[in-house]
Amino acid sequence: MSAPGYPFAVIPADVVSAGDYARHAEAMLDPRVWAYLDGGAGDEITLRENLAAFEALKMTPRVLADVSGGHTRLTLAGEALAHPFILAPVGWQKLFHPQGELASAQAAGVMQAPLAVSCMATETVEAIAGQGGPVWFQIYMQATRAATEALVRRAEAAGCRALLVTVDAPIGGIRNRAQRVGFSLPLGMVAANLPAEGAPPPLKAGASAVFDGMMRAAPGWADIEWLTRLTRLPVFVKGILHADDAERALSAGAAGIVVSNHGGRVLDTAPAAINALPAIAARLNGAAPILFDSGVRRGSDAFKAIALGADAVMIGRPYIWALSVAGALGVAHLLRTLREELEITMALMGCRTLTDIRQASICHA
Ligand code: FNR
Repeated sequence: MSAPGYPFAVIPADVVSAGDYARHAEAMLDPRVWAYLDGGAGDEITLRENLAAFEALKMTPRVLADVSGGHTRLTLAGEALAHPFILAPVGWQKLFHPQGELASAQAAGVMQAPLAVSCMATETVEAIAGQGGPVWFQIYMQATRAATEALVRRAEAAGCRALLVTVDAPIGGIRNRAQRVGFSLPLGMVAANLPAEGAPPPLKAGASAVFDGMMRAAPGWADIEWLTRLTRLPVFVKGILHADDAERALSAGAAGIVVSNHGGRVLDTAPAAINALPAIAARLNGAAPILFDSGVRRGSDAFKAIALGADAVMIGRPYIWALSVAGALGVAHLLRTLREELEITMALMGCRTLTDIRQASICHA
């Protein structure tokens, strides 16, 4: 199972949207890698629902509005951004392209889109940050606080501007599609920022692999409090679907949250993330920035998420499709395409700024 290489020196002529990259990526990638990338948990009900929920949201255009001088700028956690698209943390990027995260980082630099480097990245955070683009770092709480702190210090020293702590996957989802085709990480594919893992201690007879194994040392809210006190970087808690948890994250010192169901990859039949967003936004009532991911495929999806309370959106699979097909060039092209789609949607909806989007007419129809 090897990364596809450089099949296209240029972007294929028929690629004009994220979905076009998906089609090409599926044709190019090893079917097992595709199953890992594209698949979700269980029967993939949440995965499908993430997309269906965006489709079900309808926008009523506003005509003859003056949108001259409009723009997509925003300030997020003290940082000025030209547009509200962020590259979500996606692990193991050398599965998809030989340059892996370095290519994504180059595109992030060109398009000034923060790249959230996954804890499971196949390149070091120093090398990724060295590509010049804005870089964040995503953390899974490690087995010990010392190991987590070492990661945080490394991300800080590398110049990462924010941390995401992912809390919705303390244990792997039931990825049946990837299991059916026998996906496993190829030999030599290592997490470049983590120490080599020893074998887990054997379980006692009759013990549960879940409760006595993986979940035994799983993090809790006290660990999030500890983390937010440990660093001066803004910490976003990623993987929130319940308004109570959103509030709790802020009480634990988070700078913001990411409303996400991990792209439908963890708990099947969790609600579509976009359907969970309005209640969370209403509860936080502007107290902290809300990032959103899971199902964004179009600039119009970003528009809908912002209308329903997000400040910015992250994309996961779409940029990995683009990375697989055309490396850094593909990712930069995809970001530009999404940004243009958002701008056109704003113009047709009579919105000059992202703030105007909050007043837009969005409804289930
Ligand atoms: C992910 N995601 C993820 N999230 C995270 O916090 N750390 C990680 O290492 C990964 N790895 C990862 C690998 C792959 C192949 C995918 C598809 C996703 C989840 C990711 O950050 C994001 O939440 C979703 O991808 C968003 O949904 P969409 O945009 O893929 O629909």
